[in-house]
Amino acid sequence: MPRSYFTKLLPLLTLLLLFQSPRHPSTAAYAIGVNYGTVADNLPPPSEVAAFIRDHTTIDKVKIFDANPDIITAFANTNISLTITVPDDAVLAVANPSAARAWVAANVLPFFPATRIRRIAVGNEIFATGDRNLIAHLLPAMKAIHAALQSANLAGEIQVSTPHSLGILSISDPPSSGRFRRVYDRVIFAPILEFHRQTNSPFMVCPYPYFGFTDEAGNYALFRPNGGVLDRATGLNYTNMFAAQLDAVYSAMKRVGYGDVDIVVAETGWPSAGDPNQMGVSLDNAASYNANLVKYVSSGVGTPLMPNRTFETYIFSLFNEDLKPGSSEQNFGLFRPDLEPVYDVGVLRNPQFGSPTPVSNKKWCIPRNDASDAALQANIDFVCGSDGVSCKPIQDRAACYEPDTVRSHAAYAMNAYYQSHGRTDFACDFDTTGALTTHDPSKLLGTLSVSKLLFLLVESDEIFYSKFVLFHLAGWYVS
Ligand SMILES: *[C@@H]1O[C@H](CO)[C@@H](O)[C@H](O)[C@H]1NC(C)=O
Ligand SMILES: *[C@@H]1O[C@H](CO)[C@@H](O)[C@H](O)[C@H]1NC(C)=O
Ligand SMILES: *[C@@H]1O[C@H](CO)[C@@H](O)[C@H](O)[C@H]1NC(C)=O
Repeated sequence: MPRSYFTKLLPLLTLLLLFQSPRHPSTAAYAIGVNYGTVADNLPPPSEVAAFIRDHTTIDKVKIFDANPDIITAFANTNISLTITVPDDAVLAVANPSAARAWVAANVLPFFPATRIRRIAVGNEIFATGDRNLIAHLLPAMKAIHAALQSANLAGEIQVSTPHSLGILSISDPPSSGRFRRVYDRVIFAPILEFHRQTNSPFMVCPYPYFGFTDEAGNYALFRPNGGVLDRATGLNYTNMFAAQLDAVYSAMKRVGYGDVDIVVAETGWPSAGDPNQMGVSLDNAASYNANLVKYVSSGVGTPLMPNRTFETYIFSLFNEDLKPGSSEQNFGLFRPDLEPVYDVGVLRNPQFGSPTPVSNKKWCIPRNDASDAALQANIDFVCGSDGVSCKPIQDRAACYEPDTVRSHAAYAMNAYYQSHGRTDFACDFDTTGALTTHDPSKLLGTLSVSKLLFLLVESDEIFYSKFVLFHLAGWYVS
């Protein structure tokens, strides 16, 4: 082949490899749970959701906020464990033993064992309601449901618990000083923990470092490198807020004599989008928090006060839910309602290279015509300063350096960001200076044959083959 062809191919090859290097280099598959909330009007039918989770993810545990029979049925024969919930408004009633038996007869027996119902959550964050009557009936309701399971011979297979927000703690910092709210500690929590110990069921909590996010504590909340936070009482150094929150819960449990009871993380998560200027909310932060969380809880290192312990963990949430109040509340999902990943946290089976989304419906992110050079330069600075995108190709006279215009460099950077950040509309927003196109941007930009070739190759489903061929041709050429 003529030399000129190769001089173009070589930088292109570099670029292709960059495009294909996984954003999360360890795409190891982790077992993790998710909360399947349904406060939305656009979700796929439960049967589709269950099949999707079974076939396309490594998620092996699902928690739902009610006992929707369609959902429970959908998980039959999937071998996915299910936690179902007695809704808050049924908690008072099921404190009555016969009502509890009726609830189990209606919501468990018809589906078990085809659906692996493993746990029943009685209410959700009941203490946060501040409803004293409800709070007083919580443990009786848990005991009645457990007794109903016993009479159905299922108490050995189905646990009973209830999720708590961290509002149950009056002190949580430093972690070793963690304690339950006064009065509740002995009157309510000690008996609940005694129930867990006797029935071998876990204490369920919902830690959300997101709510502790500040500019100073950002990296600490996001499991990113940081200087650590020292608990002076124990001399233990905390490098992430999640562990500190769990240890505060553990300290509170231990203080009333129940440090041995298992802890399950019933909910934790991070919103990928929200209102403008909302602190800590971004796609990058959500992807970073959840991906690091999955690795952390799967690693088996435990926490400083609970070394080597593992915590069954349920990410909130499976889907973005459009009927939730508030923009960030609507954007906790790992998936969009069309089952496309918002971002990958390492739970997809056979993830594609830079992004979990299959290379279909090709779209590119390009600068809008009316975007100013200043705004586009800000986009370049943002992308090139963020993790996961290499800007080498548009620097130092590399493959995409020419034409040396802000618009052309921004086109590269914005598209690289979009392709590696889940290909969501949001990842191409750039404060409304980005636009998605289904047309080959090299034509729109009227530039560079190399970039055109790149886009065509990226478009090709034969990309791995192309990479292979290019790699060998290039190697042959160099030698
Ligand atoms: C079901 O899942 C459990 C773990 O949750 C696993 O041990 C078991 O082998 C699975 N069974 C089947 C039939 O896949
Ligand atoms: C805590 O850990 C961080 C991260 O490893 C480290 O930078 C810091 O010096 C440690 N602090 C103390 C007091 O050991
Ligand atoms: C935790 O695991 C490590 C490595 O297996 C071991 O050396 C250590 O003794 C364990 N710590 C506790 C408290 O079990």
